[in-house]
Amino acid sequence: MSDPQVWDDVDAYFTRHLSPQDDALDAALRDSDAAGLPPIAVSAPQGKLLRLLAEIQGARRILEIGTLGGYSTIWLARALPADGRLVTLEYSARHAEVAVANLARAGFGALADVRVGPALESLPKLAEEQPPPFDLVFIDADKANNPHYVEWALKLTAVGSVIVVDNVVRGGRVADPDATDGAVLGTRAAIELIAGHPRLSGTAVQTVGAKGYDGFALARVTS
Ligand code: SAH
Ligand code: DHB
Ligand code: MG
Repeated sequence: MSDPQVWDDVDAYFTRHLSPQDDALDAALRDSDAAGLPPIAVSAPQGKLLRLLAEIQGARRILEIGTLGGYSTIWLARALPADGRLVTLEYSARHAEVAVANLARAGFGALADVRVGPALESLPKLAEEQPPPFDLVFIDADKANNPHYVEWALKLTAVGSVIVVDNVVRGGRVADPDATDGAVLGTRAAIELIAGHPRLSGTAVQTVGAKGYDGFALARVTS
C-alpha cells in the first residue's frame, strides 16, 4: 500500500516492539523540537539499523557527518565499546549545542566529540590528526556535498569499513531526469562515485516509513 498513513502506522508498530520506550532518545527529540530544530532525524527503526550495522561491523570508531540534535549519534554511540570513539560534524553551533546536551544526558558526553563548522573544513582538520581508521561513516548533512563526503570517508577509513549515506531517494527525485537541485545532483554524484569506484562495493535501498519515501546507500571499502 502506497499510503503514508500506513507507513507511519507500521513504523509505530515496529518502534513499539523493536525499540520501545527510551528516555534518552525521547528526550533528545523533545529538546530538539523545543529548540526549533527541524524534525529530520532518522526514525527509530532507522536508528536501530544504524546501531545494528555498527555492532555487526564490530565498530570501535565511528564518524558522522551531520549531527542535528544528536539523535542518530546516540543510536550509533550505543554500538560502541566504552573506549570507542565517535566524531560527529555539525555546521550549526546551535544544533551542536543541543546535541552536546542530548549526548551528555544519554551518557555519551565523554565518548562523543561534536565538532562545529562546515564539514568540508572539519574533515581536513580531522585528517591532519591522523586518526586510526573509522569503521563506519554515516553521511547525513548537506546532500549537495555527498560526493565530497564519500571521498573524505575513503580517506578516513580502511578495508572493511562501512559507509552509509542517508536520504538518497527523497521521494523518488534521485531518478528524476529533470531534477536540477543540488541535493539530487549531489546524491546522484555520490551514487555514481560509489558505483564506479575501484575501492568500493555498494548498493542503495529504498525505504518508506515515518520519514516518508526515502532510502540509504551502503558501501563497503574493499581495498
Ligand atoms: N543525523 C541526524 C540528522 C542530520 S540533519 C539524525 O538523523 O539525527 C542534517 C544536519 O547537517 C543539520 O543539522 C545541518 O545543520 C547539518 N549540516 C548542513 N550542512 C552542513 C555542513 N556543510 N557541514 C556540517 N553539517 C552540515
Ligand atoms: C532532510 C535532511 C535529512 O537528513 C533527512 O533525513 C530528511 C530531510 C532535509 O534536509 O529536508
Ligand atoms: Mg538524514
